[in-house]
Amino acid sequence: MTFGKVPNTFQVRSTRGAAIQEVIPFRYKQALVTGGAGFIGSHLVDSLVGLGCKVNVLDDLSTGSLSNLARVKSQISFFEGDIRDRPLLSKVSEGCDILFHQAAIVSVPQTVEQPVYTAQVNELGTLCALEAARNCGVKRVIIASSCAVYGNDPRVPKHETMEPCPESPYAVQKLNGEQHARLYWKLYGVETICLRYFNVYGPRQNPGSPYSGVISIFLNRAAAAKPPEIHGNGTQSRDFIFVADVVKANLLAAAAQGVSGVNINVGTGKPVTINALWKLISHIFKIHVKPRHTEARAGDVFASAAGTDFAASALGFKPEHSLEKGLRITFKWHKKVLAKNGYPRR
Ligand SMILES: NC(=O)c1ccc[n+]([C@@H]2O[C@H](COP(=O)([O-])OP(=O)(O)OC[C@H]3O[C@@H](n4cnc5c(N)ncnc54)[C@H](O)[C@@H]3O)[C@@H](O)[C@H]2O)c1
Repeated sequence: MTFGKVPNTFQVRSTRGAAIQEVIPFRYKQALVTGGAGFIGSHLVDSLVGLGCKVNVLDDLSTGSLSNLARVKSQISFFEGDIRDRPLLSKVSEGCDILFHQAAIVSVPQTVEQPVYTAQVNELGTLCALEAARNCGVKRVIIASSCAVYGNDPRVPKHETMEPCPESPYAVQKLNGEQHARLYWKLYGVETICLRYFNVYGPRQNPGSPYSGVISIFLNRAAAAKPPEIHGNGTQSRDFIFVADVVKANLLAAAAQGVSGVNINVGTGKPVTINALWKLISHIFKIHVKPRHTEARAGDVFASAAGTDFAASALGFKPEHSLEKGLRITFKWHKKVLAKNGYPRR
């Protein structure tokens, strides 16, 4: 196995608090964010820096980009390397009291193509992160899991008490990560919380990737005034959550008292059909382009929505961004980035 190098280390210094500090008491002094150069991880890093927390980032830059960390690069310690590199993981966990584990291979098709390699990163990588936390005395580990663990169970909303029904290696890897996390709480007392993200969108989600979420693909099509491809009749629904709300859920999970060894949905509970999504995006872009409907994809989930009761009671979590608000913010980012020099290269 080959591992990444460790060339880039930025020095940390504290900064003024972000608005989010007013609502969430953040008691941690130093955090490790794995996958912190990625879409969600980099927003989390921004907020942690804003809260005055020292932040170490570990990322192999396979899909993440240093440009995502441009705003905070002089205030964090960045380590380029692989989550499975245990000596490196120990080094970057040293002195941290919380670990946010975001690093993963997020492409479901890639996990289908390469089930063993992706399990090494997604499942073994999660285990390595938990083990580093145990050995280095990191109090709490917050893990990015996924609504994919619910699979094709047709019942909506999805509640955490439902039996998981993973339909892809990616979903199995996420589910196994949850099981490891539960055991690390039971056996070793490492406080773990797994957050089952639903469909996350927002600035820095790269629409250049064929595996990007539907929103970033639609925004790309809308920017070019070209019709998007909708699989099936478009009445399938998804629960889209804005990235800032996902960051908020992570910070609340960090602050929560008496909640460990559990899995918690992070969604809005308000499903939107793919047809309605395109309509809203067309409205924001002020375009009139009809989508192109293609064959429904085998195994596509018909309806997905998060049950939000447990997130509300365990974390006090309530998303703050409506889909329209989140889309408008994302739209602005798209315009700015496209006007500059296109999407960041990987
Ligand atoms: N985006 C979503 O809608 C969504 C939904 C559910 C769950 N998730 C989970 O959220 C987390 C973040 O996803 P994202 O959307 O920001 O994707 P992303 O690809 O932007 O972020 C993943 C990051 O992990 C890094 N990485 C990958 N393999 C690594 C390795 N072996 N060692 C170190 N770093 C590695 C990548 O370079 C990247 O920066 C992932 O765990 C993903 O499974 C995302």
